[in-house]
Amino acid sequence: MIDPDRPTTPARSPGPPGGPGRVLVLGAGYLAGHIARRLAATGAAVTVSSRRPPATPETGGLRWRPVDVAAPAAVRELLGAERPDAVVAVHGPSDITWCEDHADAALAVHLGGARNLAAALDGRRVLLISTDNVFPGHADSCGESAPCAPANAYGRAKLAAEQALFATGAALALRVSLVYGWDDAGLRPNFLTTAARTLRRSEPLRVPDDHWNTPVLVDDVAAWTTALLGSPHTGTVHLGGPRRVSRVDWARHIARLTGADPGLVVPAPRDSTLYACRPRNACLHSERAARLPELRGLRPLDVLDATRTLLSANPTDPAPFTIDPADPADSTRPADSARKATT
Ligand SMILES: NC(=O)c1ccc[n+]([C@@H]2O[C@H](COP(=O)([O-])OP(=O)(O)OC[C@H]3O[C@@H](n4cnc5c(N)ncnc54)[C@H](OP(=O)(O)O)[C@@H]3O)[C@@H](O)[C@H]2O)c1
Repeated sequence: MIDPDRPTTPARSPGPPGGPGRVLVLGAGYLAGHIARRLAATGAAVTVSSRRPPATPETGGLRWRPVDVAAPAAVRELLGAERPDAVVAVHGPSDITWCEDHADAALAVHLGGARNLAAALDGRRVLLISTDNVFPGHADSCGESAPCAPANAYGRAKLAAEQALFATGAALALRVSLVYGWDDAGLRPNFLTTAARTLRRSEPLRVPDDHWNTPVLVDDVAAWTTALLGSPHTGTVHLGGPRRVSRVDWARHIARLTGADPGLVVPAPRDSTLYACRPRNACLHSERAARLPELRGLRPLDVLDATRTLLSANPTDPAPFTIDPADPADSTRPADSARKATT
């Protein structure tokens, strides 16, 4: 585990002096759990919310309330009951491949949820965790001034959600690149965890050699979210890690560190994998962050360095967490595990 309190990412107050002490986090999954814990560590009164009670270690001990963000009355009632000073919107669906196959359902939750939230905010600040998939992926990396042209259904739904929240005048969209960390209890473990587990079992790992990311550590996402939620800034801010890396090079790095045969990493064209709908480049940099005093000192870690730290801290794997495919509440989660790409 990387120390979340390391000096490069100091925790900050979630708001200006006297400002938002109560934070509602919409979503209770991987990112929501880490963000909520970070906010709670600064003294904020945090509530996480989702359709079902969360089961991840990060959300343990946090207050939870049920909500379906696609239901206007439920969102209105939740905000009325919680009376938050600020809201972080970090709910799913987050599986890009699933969204491509269920474009209408993805739009209903992301755009519908954003509209419902905008209608209930009453001037309160909101920070939306958005994505690099709002760009087509032709350029090696995109800054905030790059023109949006979503690569896929997921990107279209997230961009529409951004625009619905911007209309409130109090929204900031933090567009985040591929997130990683050691996630041994998550519903849909991220690429680092899945790749390490596969290679440690000496199983082949088929990964695109024409797909690049600027991966960012989950602790850095939590630190930036906490700092920016307490700022007055609106519009978009990009958060990518400092290194642009192909999936295949990252996987080979993981193979070397786990002592696995590097030949187990099998390069494949993106179009022939479950990553087919992802942009060739899902990479972000920021033209804005260096000018924001709230982000001073919050330098995201290099993915190859952090991978080394995380793998040496987690030398063995626990039993994998499984989703009950018969659970009807999994309607926006992929039920067939063979179909899903990790993030
Ligand atoms: N992970 C990444 O690499 C990454 C990168 C950039 C942006 N993001 C964005 O961050 C957000 C969260 O990603 P994640 O990786 O943390 O996803 P996750 O682990 O799959 O968590 C998604 C959460 O959203 C909840 N949810 C889904 N549908 C909902 C609904 N209709 N109403 C209320 N809650 C709902 C889920 O709980 P229930 O199913 O129980 O409701 C779950 O708690 C997504 O919007 C994604 O676009 C993620």
